[in-house]
Amino acid sequence: MEDTTMKKQHLFIGGKPTESVDYIALQAPYSKETLADVSSATAEEVEAAIAAAVQAGKEMRRMPAHQRADILYKLSTLLEERKEEAARIIALEAAKPITAALAEVDRTVETYRFAAEEAKRLTGETVPMDAAKGGEGRVGYTMRQPLGVIGAITPFNFPMNLVAHKVGPALAAGNTIVLKPAEQTPLSSYYIANLLQEAGLPDGALNVVSGDGKTIGDVLVEHPDVAHITFTGSPAVGTSIRSKAGLKRVTLELGSNAAVIIDADANLDKVVPRCVTGAFTYQGQVCISLQRIYVHSAIADEFIRRFAEAAQKVVVGDPLNPDTVVSALITSKDVQRTLDWIDEAKQAGAEVATGGEAEGGVLRPTVLVNVPRDAKVSCQEVFAPIVVINTVESVEKGIEHVNDSVYGLQAGVFTNDIHTALHAADHIEAGGVMINDIPTFRVDHMPYGGVKQSGMGREGVKYAVEEMTELKFVMFNKN
Ligand code: SIN
Repeated sequence: MEDTTMKKQHLFIGGKPTESVDYIALQAPYSKETLADVSSATAEEVEAAIAAAVQAGKEMRRMPAHQRADILYKLSTLLEERKEEAARIIALEAAKPITAALAEVDRTVETYRFAAEEAKRLTGETVPMDAAKGGEGRVGYTMRQPLGVIGAITPFNFPMNLVAHKVGPALAAGNTIVLKPAEQTPLSSYYIANLLQEAGLPDGALNVVSGDGKTIGDVLVEHPDVAHITFTGSPAVGTSIRSKAGLKRVTLELGSNAAVIIDADANLDKVVPRCVTGAFTYQGQVCISLQRIYVHSAIADEFIRRFAEAAQKVVVGDPLNPDTVVSALITSKDVQRTLDWIDEAKQAGAEVATGGEAEGGVLRPTVLVNVPRDAKVSCQEVFAPIVVINTVESVEKGIEHVNDSVYGLQAGVFTNDIHTALHAADHIEAGGVMINDIPTFRVDHMPYGGVKQSGMGREGVKYAVEEMTELKFVMFNKN
């Protein structure tokens, strides 16, 4: 198979590497070494990718479900066999610590397995036609059909698994895809494209076009042959996609400033390590990273002391070191931005319990206490290893703070009181509420998506398949 870490990474169109007009050097965020010269697609090259996807659509539409499932199973097996190699690509291009990168590959293997299983479950339902006057003597049923070409735009933070959440369901449902990976992490997508080809995917069913977000995004979003845009990224870009997409279907997984509430009865031996994991894994660059903690005043001092101590012990540095939890932020601009945000919070009265400094591209795990609600580290998505802790007098007050956000992806509540838990589940404004866990919890078959500026639509393989298929109704008149 093609070596995707070679110096020149071509586009992948119509089942084969395709030279492009422009190439851009891709730099590793931690070591700054050049990983490859990567294609930067022109608008014409994106159009060629869409044409290849349209052409392959004929074969994908005819392909029986068991064959689509076999290709996806085969892909997951190939990926499992090459797990170390795949994780190294993620670690290098995304500065994702290798232990987290290996965990991402494990999840990706599973996501493609879920997709293989969903390919066999594209069911419909019968509709009791005679429930309505005039419906007598008729049989009605629904079926799901592929939409056609899916335009998938993916982020840097899970360069294999968030690609799998778009590619897997799209192929399971019989669609074809043009995939635009994040500019910082294209190699993972090209790697998967090669594996899928080896797994027997028809030429053109998956096309990968890396490069400038606006150039490629505009063609995908406005092209009449693209039926659906599925995007994970910032609210600003999501809003722009929605406004340009016309009548196309759009699924948007956007940002968050995810929060947890910790009740007075919480067991800190369990809660503190979970919160450390939620706040700092992959340097906080996860849409559901724990960013805000609202802890009951009865246990606040103890919690803050233990949490800050644990944060100081988090290993930072080289993503290839198996002990590293926090490595370089994705760009040096993000280091400066987060330092500025920390400064702003300090000016507004926040105390730094630990962290607050950067070395090279790495921001040390940072814990801020008593942070005003309108400080950027609290009310905007920080996407860095920074957590803010505030004290509340009750879970009810905590719910008010959690909901005081433009976002609503996932939230967590630690409590041993079932009434409090059920009340929180009802009243928190988010796509998912995790009782006795952090918001940073996801397994790949659960529904995943947000409310408010966190997006629209749901992923989680079965739910993404619903977004990527058209419900068709068929009626037989027996009269
Ligand atoms: C995300 O950052 O939205 C994905 C989180 C995950 O899959 O764990």
